[in-house]
Amino acid sequence: MSVAKRDIKRITTHVLQAMKENGEKISMLTAYDYSMAKILDAAGVDILLVGDSASNVMAGHETTLPITLEQMIYHAQSVVRAVERAFVVVDLPFGSYQGNSTKALNSAIAIMKESGAHAVKLEGGAEIEESVLRILSAGVPVMGHLGLTPQSIYKFGTYSVRAKEEAEAAKLMDDARLLEKAGCFALVLEKIPAALGRKVAADLHIPVIGIGAGNGVDGQVLVTHDMLGITKDFHPRFLRRYLELFDTIKEATERYVADVKAGEFPNENEQY
Ligand code: KIV
Repeated sequence: MSVAKRDIKRITTHVLQAMKENGEKISMLTAYDYSMAKILDAAGVDILLVGDSASNVMAGHETTLPITLEQMIYHAQSVVRAVERAFVVVDLPFGSYQGNSTKALNSAIAIMKESGAHAVKLEGGAEIEESVLRILSAGVPVMGHLGLTPQSIYKFGTYSVRAKEEAEAAKLMDDARLLEKAGCFALVLEKIPAALGRKVAADLHIPVIGIGAGNGVDGQVLVTHDMLGITKDFHPRFLRRYLELFDTIKEATERYVADVKAGEFPNENEQY
């Protein structure tokens, strides 16, 4: 029987570690609000990520940079209220941890204290080691994030595949080992060659979860709005759309508008 199905009421870091050891893939999706989190949790997603992609999909910003710590806490509170089983991870937003480990610690503590989430996620490797160590010293589980790290988009200049060259792939592997040694409980790898994803997952003892990192890693994460087709003009090769909700919701709304205009809503049974 799978680790997840063995009467597990709550996913914890220990359960995720056992999944890796048993070869059971880990499922992870983003969530930013109560209603969606309730559906995703009921569907059995192992990890819900309150991602700073909320900056894009919820607020309409071009990048993840503008979202604030307070806004992340608001989204996290809504998700935590909905969840019964999933492990909830929250992104530390841009500017809340880089270059200042005391600020990083305070940001992580604010998220944990005010939202009730279970862990935080930070982007980067050696350059944020001190912040990772300080947060871990407070007993807060940390998930790493390497490869394409959207908070550094203006440094990269593009959202293209990372670590295709040997030197960058070697640095990524070094950073992955460093994060594991520091004590991270899991690692996200974004948009890197599948062969490198497989190599990192085989090398590390902690779960490695990919988004555009191939099938050789220990689990997969997608942005829920992309997976459900709520976002429309985003077609990276790694994305599988399970619904076309933009069109479905648009068609339903068009029918509602037409019914209201025609005076056909509400009908006799829909009024007091
Ligand atoms: O913010 C986010 O949605 C993420 C995922 C892409 C992993 O970090």
